Amino acid sequence: MIQSQLNLHGKKIVDINDIMNTINMVPMNYVGNKKKLIKDFIHPVMNDMDYDIFIDLFAGSSSVSLYNKLRNDKIVITNDLLVSSYISSVVLIENNGVDISSEEIDYILNTQPDSKDTKYRVLMNFMAKYDNLFTKNEQVKLATYKYNIDTLFDTRNEKLFIFYYNITNIIKNACRIMNGSIKYTPPIDIRKRFVDRCVKYNMCYSKTYLNSNNEINFEKLIQSYCNKFNTFYKKCYALGLMTIAIKRSTPYSRGLKWIDRKNTKYAAASYLNSDYEIDFDRVIKQSIYPVFSNNNTNHISFNMDAIDFLSLLSNLNVDMSNTLIYIDPPYGGDNSDYLDLYSFIESYITGVPFIKDLPYYEKMQRFTSYDRYIYNFNIMLKLLHKLKPKHIIFSFNNSSFIGIKSIKKMLSHYWNVEIHDTCYNYNFRKNDNRSGIEYLMVTHQH
Ligand SMILES: C[S@@+](CC[C@H](N)C(=O)[O-])C[C@H]1O[C@@H](n2cnc3c(N)ncnc32)[C@H](O)[C@@H]1O
Repeated sequence: MIQSQLNLHGKKIVDINDIMNTINMVPMNYVGNKKKLIKDFIHPVMNDMDYDIFIDLFAGSSSVSLYNKLRNDKIVITNDLLVSSYISSVVLIENNGVDISSEEIDYILNTQPDSKDTKYRVLMNFMAKYDNLFTKNEQVKLATYKYNIDTLFDTRNEKLFIFYYNITNIIKNACRIMNGSIKYTPPIDIRKRFVDRCVKYNMCYSKTYLNSNNEINFEKLIQSYCNKFNTFYKKCYALGLMTIAIKRSTPYSRGLKWIDRKNTKYAAASYLNSDYEIDFDRVIKQSIYPVFSNNNTNHISFNMDAIDFLSLLSNLNVDMSNTLIYIDPPYGGDNSDYLDLYSFIESYITGVPFIKDLPYYEKMQRFTSYDRYIYNFNIMLKLLHKLKPKHIIFSFNNSSFIGIKSIKKMLSHYWNVEIHDTCYNYNFRKNDNRSGIEYLMVTHQH
């Protein structure tokens, strides 16, 4: 339990060492993850700011969101377009303490699917496409785990709720941000989409959640969806665990071909058995991570394109006078194409073998090349300016898409900007440490 006291102004003083001890219990293998910068760089800046709502627009591993959640005095909203990042945000941030049991983990690891089952055969065919990355035994294991996760955590009934879930998330955020209550009349197009959907699928929910005037009783809807999501949270936990295990046991998360398994320079080597095959059972068991309760708050995770998300908030006319938006986008240098970096994991979770077929492929390219970056960054700045959040923090380093002075110039067009910097050593490759300068660019509402 993290202790906190009040200072003279009635603000909570958080013990950053307690928070860091908790964050360090969570495996967070993620390119660009800010875990190591929280204690001495991010915390001193955020701790001096006064805000109630924290929005992590490019949440990644959710390290900075977890820091805010553990402070116990913030509402945290995460967003990331990668499904694997969204899943880890759901588990660490949105999930209110729903865990999976050791029996459930045993089931996932040890249940043998019927080899004639069509779903299992589809998974085996899918895995066969990764012949260049995984041995036959490894393919069988990965197909088996995915099959067992899908069977054990059958979210089909909850899927009926996914649509409501997205809508209610939006509404819930908007209402809470606006007046802390869920009494809110959503814009007409959202109401219309909701009603159309109910009619189209003839959902029994429609009777429960719509009154005779076709108006939505959101209060009832939200209450009931909250109780129905245990299986969804468990499934996210299981998939999150698989994601961590794959990242830990494969060099660069298998973004590259793994040619020489006997080459011990790869961290992955520690998870190989005597046949140089990945001991998935061991790495999964060693990757089990904690979940955290929300302490009477609802935190929420989104899986949207950042620009679409900001546009949505803007269309909903949300009041952001007590909000800090944290912007940690891909920096535009090496390793900016996150979909390419984590292509196998995204395919494994979604079941779509070619990343170009993913519906979010195009929008994942917004911050991967110089021209697109400039164009999309400008759109983002305009939207942020329109939203008027109390504070915005941009995170960049000295190998970002343009020099830090030029980024400051772009931001200064809209806001007064204050810059904090720190030297940072990061692991570029194993045994190859490089150093750089990390910047936090803070804007305040005039
Ligand atoms: C630098 S990382 C964020 C790291 C994070 N702060 C952490 O501590 O782990 C940038 C993130 O932006 C996400 N991303 C890239 N393009 C996006 C888009 N168009 N909309 C939303 N997220 C996007 C990537 O998936 C990646 O997780």
